[in-house]
Amino acid sequence: MLFCQCTLYVVGALYSLTQVAYGIEITRNMTVNMSTIDTDVIVDTGFGVSFLSQGTVPISMDGDITNSGVFCLGLTNFGTISSDSITNNGQMFLQTEDIAGSKGFQATNLLNNGLLSFTPSSIGNISITGSFINKGVVYINNPGGPVALEGPTGGIVNDGVVKVYGGPVSEYISFSGIVGTGCIYFYYSYSPNIDLSKPFNQTIYAPINLWMSFTGPQLAESIPVVRLPPDTYAYLLVGPQIYQVPTYTYNNVTGMLHITVPTGSFIFDVGLNLNSSQFYAGTCKNIGVGTPCIKIQSNSNAEMPSNCQASIDVDKVTTNLCPVQKALPAPLTTKASYEGNTITKIVSYETTLDSDGLPNTLTTTEYFIPSFSLPSPYTTTVTNGLLTQTEVVSYFTTTGYLPNLPELTTLPYLGTTTSTISVPFSIPHPYTSTFTDLNMTVSEIISYYSTLSNGRPATGTTTKTLTATRYITTTTTDYPMGTTHISKDYTSEGTWSSSVTYSTAVETYIIKILSTGTGMETLSTIY
Ligand SMILES: *[C@@H]1O[C@H](CO)[C@@H](O)[C@H](O)[C@H]1NC(C)=O
Ligand SMILES: *[C@@H]1O[C@H](CO)[C@@H](O)[C@H](O)[C@H]1NC(C)=O
Ligand SMILES: *[C@@H]1O[C@H](CO)[C@@H](O)[C@H](O)[C@H]1NC(C)=O
Ligand SMILES: *[C@@H]1O[C@H](CO)[C@@H](O)[C@H](O)[C@H]1NC(C)=O
Ligand SMILES: *[C@@H]1O[C@H](CO)[C@@H](O)[C@H](O)[C@H]1NC(C)=O
Ligand SMILES: *[C@@H]1O[C@H](CO)[C@@H](O)[C@H](O)[C@H]1NC(C)=O
Ligand SMILES: *[C@@H]1O[C@H](CO)[C@@H](O)[C@H](O)[C@H]1NC(C)=O
Repeated sequence: MLFCQCTLYVVGALYSLTQVAYGIEITRNMTVNMSTIDTDVIVDTGFGVSFLSQGTVPISMDGDITNSGVFCLGLTNFGTISSDSITNNGQMFLQTEDIAGSKGFQATNLLNNGLLSFTPSSIGNISITGSFINKGVVYINNPGGPVALEGPTGGIVNDGVVKVYGGPVSEYISFSGIVGTGCIYFYYSYSPNIDLSKPFNQTIYAPINLWMSFTGPQLAESIPVVRLPPDTYAYLLVGPQIYQVPTYTYNNVTGMLHITVPTGSFIFDVGLNLNSSQFYAGTCKNIGVGTPCIKIQSNSNAEMPSNCQASIDVDKVTTNLCPVQKALPAPLTTKASYEGNTITKIVSYETTLDSDGLPNTLTTTEYFIPSFSLPSPYTTTVTNGLLTQTEVVSYFTTTGYLPNLPELTTLPYLGTTTSTISVPFSIPHPYTSTFTDLNMTVSEIISYYSTLSNGRPATGTTTKTLTATRYITTTTTDYPMGTTHISKDYTSEGTWSSSVTYSTAVETYIIKILSTGTGMETLSTIY
C-alpha cells in the first residue's frame, strides 16, 4: 500500500475558545460556546461570530465590543451584555434578557453606526449610562416582554432610525429622553410609552393604526413630530388615566396640535393642511378607566419623512448571517476501483486551536493508493493450419485519472502493447531447381526453415547445391552412359540431410531430402 497525504486545508468554523487572555479578534467566521466572556471582542469586516450559550446557561459578556462584521450573541439562549464600550459598524444580532434584577443590555458608551438588532423573543432593558448615539438602525423586534430604552440624562442621541416591531402581542416599550435628528418608527407596536418630561424631539412614524401614550409634564423642547402614511390614523393618548375627553386646537399653518387634559396640556407637530374632520377627540381605554385621546388621520398625499427612511431595510436582513454551530462531520470515505484494486479516500475533520487563539476546523484528506508492478511480457502463437501468427504482449506504465477522483491527475496505470505478426506465413516445402554446368545437369535443393528476424518469426532459406559434377563426370568416364547406376549419398551440413540417387543418365536424379531435428519430414523426388 502506498500512503499519500495529498491535501491539507482549512475550511473555517469553530468550537470553543479554551483560553482567552487579552481579548480576541475575530478574523474568520466562528461560533463560540462559552458561558462567560470577560474579554474584549473585535470583529473584523467580512467575518462573523456567534456566541452561543452552553446549554441553558445564559452567556454573560462584559468586555468591550468593536464590531465591523457580524456579531451575534445569545441566539440559542439569551445572554447579557455589560460593557464599557460598544461600537457597532456592522451588524449585531442580540438576544438579551434581564436576569436577577440586572439589565440585559447595558453599557457605558454605545455608538451604533450599523444595525443593532434585538431579535425575538426575549429582550430585557437597554440601558446606556454615558453616551448612547445611534447613527444607524436600532431594531427592536417583537420583544417578549416590556422593554425600556434608557439613555443618559441628556438623552439618547438618535440621528438614525429606531424601529420597533411590536408584533401582535400588546406590550409596552418605553423611552427615556431621546433627542437628535432621527426617527422612531413604530410598526405594529401597541402602546409605546413616551415620557415628554424628558428631552424628546424625535419624529415618530406610525404606519399601522396605533395607540401611542405620552406622559408629562411636557418639556418645551419635547415636541414630538408625528407622521403617518397616507390615509391612515393613529391615536395620541395624553396624560394619566382618566375618563375624560380632551379638548384640542389645530393650527393648519404651523401644523401644531394642542391637546388639553385636566393635568395639563400637550403640543404635537402633526403636519400641515389637515382639516377638522381629520381629528376626533375621545377616551381610549387600553387599561384602567381609559385615557384622553385624539384620533388623527393623515392626508392622502402624506409622505414618509426622509429621516425615517432607514439606510438598512431590517426586513431584508436576517440572522442567517450569524455563523451556526455545526457538529464536526463524520469522516467521509470514498472508494474507487483502480487496476483491479481499490483507492480509498478519507476526508476527516478535527478541531484545533490556532496560534491566534481562535478555534478552527482542520480538514485532512488522505488517499490510500495501492501499488502494482509491471508484469513480464509474453508471446503467444496462434496457429491455424499452416498459418502461424505470433503476438507479443508487453507492459508499460502510463498516467490517467478516475472519474470519481479527478483530483488525482497522475495516477499510474498499466499500459499494454500487443505486437501482432501481421503477415501469416507457412514454411514452404523444399523444392529443387536444376541447371546445366559442364554439360552436366546439377540440382539445387531450396528449403525453408523458421527463424526470427528482428525478434519476429520469419522464413529462412537454405540453398544447397549438389555439387556432384566433377564426380559424375568421372563416373561417366568410367561407366558407359545408360548402363550404370551410380549412387551417392550426400549429407549436408546443418539441419538438413539429403540422399541423392543418380539413375541412368547424369541428367536425371532422384533426390531424397530428409530433415533431421524436430521438424516435419519432407520428401522431395525430382526426375
Ligand atoms: C457547549 O458546550 C457544552 C459542553 O462544553 C455542551 O454541553 C453544550 O451543548 C454546547 N452548546 C452548544 C450550543 O453546542
Ligand atoms: C426594566 O425597565 C422597566 C421600566 O423602566 C423597569 O420597571 C424594570 O425594573 C427594569 N428592569 C430591570 C432589570 O432593570
Ligand atoms: C433635537 O434636539 C437636539 C439636541 O437638543 C438637536 O441637536 C436636534 O437638532 C433636535 N432635533 C430636531 C429635529 O429638532
Ligand atoms: C386653515 O384653517 C382656516 C381657518 O381656521 C381655513 O380658513 C383654511 O381654509 C384652512 N386651510 C386649509 C388648507 O385647510
Ligand atoms: C378633510 O380631509 C379629509 C381627508 O383628507 C377629506 O376627505 C375631506 O374632504 C376634507 N374636508 C375638508 C372640509 O376639507
Ligand atoms: C463569513 O460570514 C459572513 C457574514 O455572514 C459572510 O458574508 C461570509 O461569506 C462568511 N465567510 C465565509 C468564508 O464563510
Ligand atoms: C559439351 O557437349 C558438346 C556437344 O554436345 C561438346 O561440343 C562440348 O565440347 C562438350 N563440353 C564439355 C566441356 O565436355
